[in-house]
Amino acid sequence: MKLNGNTILITGGATGIGFALAEAFAKEGNDIIICGRREQKLKEAKSKLPQIHTRVCDLSKEKEREGLYNWVKSNFKGINVLVNNAGIQRMIDFKKGISNLTDGENEIDINLTAPIYLSAYFIPELLKQKESAIINVSSALGFVPIAFMPVYCATKAAIHSFSLSIRHQLRNTSIKVFEVIPPTVDTELDKGARDERGQVEKGIPPAEVAKATLKALEKNEYETAIGMAQNLRMGARDNPEQIFQSINQ
Ligand SMILES: NC(=O)c1ccc[n+]([C@@H]2O[C@H](COP(=O)([O-])OP(=O)(O)OC[C@H]3O[C@@H](n4cnc5c(N)ncnc54)[C@H](OP(=O)(O)O)[C@@H]3O)[C@@H](O)[C@H]2O)c1
Repeated sequence: MKLNGNTILITGGATGIGFALAEAFAKEGNDIIICGRREQKLKEAKSKLPQIHTRVCDLSKEKEREGLYNWVKSNFKGINVLVNNAGIQRMIDFKKGISNLTDGENEIDINLTAPIYLSAYFIPELLKQKESAIINVSSALGFVPIAFMPVYCATKAAIHSFSLSIRHQLRNTSIKVFEVIPPTVDTELDKGARDERGQVEKGIPPAEVAKATLKALEKNEYETAIGMAQNLRMGARDNPEQIFQSINQ
């Protein structure tokens, strides 16, 4: 996959891994569109990268996903890369019943439904381009779940499965499907809860994820596990019970 001259939509591109990807892709000479719910964060991103295009959008809402698709389609004819990056992470204790699940944002809508719907919207557009890609950001926790974040881990396992299937469906087309599997990354994701449980491990900088992603694209390496995510992915295959126990002590 060529690294320049692309028109790239990055969901959740104003912060964390998404913004690091925006910076790295912009440096290579690509046209970047980012979206997210917080206008202020989009403005801050644009002040750092004035050439990017921004759009306020809540991807958990179907009307807004459709609105994003229509806006991109009419303003960026050459859209050829979709990065499904936006996500949230929650601790959910099922012993507390339904309210603990519903008293917060819906991880399934944001982490899973949105990438699936955006793929369905954008694939016909991407098929019109000579070379195009979908990049799904999953997680090492999709391979080995941490039990106190059960829904998050399930959505990431599902993104892995979805990536395998659409990669196969699209194998004879212009669209390459990539999955990027980060380890713990130092971002705002679930930061409050990380602090609350006294998690000291901050994780790798988001720029490292961006660097590994661009390297994977360049080499057409369709599934890339980064840093410690490599160990978890391998452990899930070779010794699933032991690796599950070791991260859930
Ligand atoms: N950090 C880690 O340790 C880690 C590890 C593995 C995988 N990942 C994955 O990496 C991806 C990026 O996360 P991050 O770590 O970079 O955290 P982050 O900085 O919190 O980024 C998440 C982004 O998603 C956007 N977003 C959340 N809900 C949205 C919605 N309903 N509609 C539109 N945008 C929404 C957020 O913007 P708004 O809030 O303004 O909407 C934010 O810009 C996620 O999919 C996450 O699961 C992270």
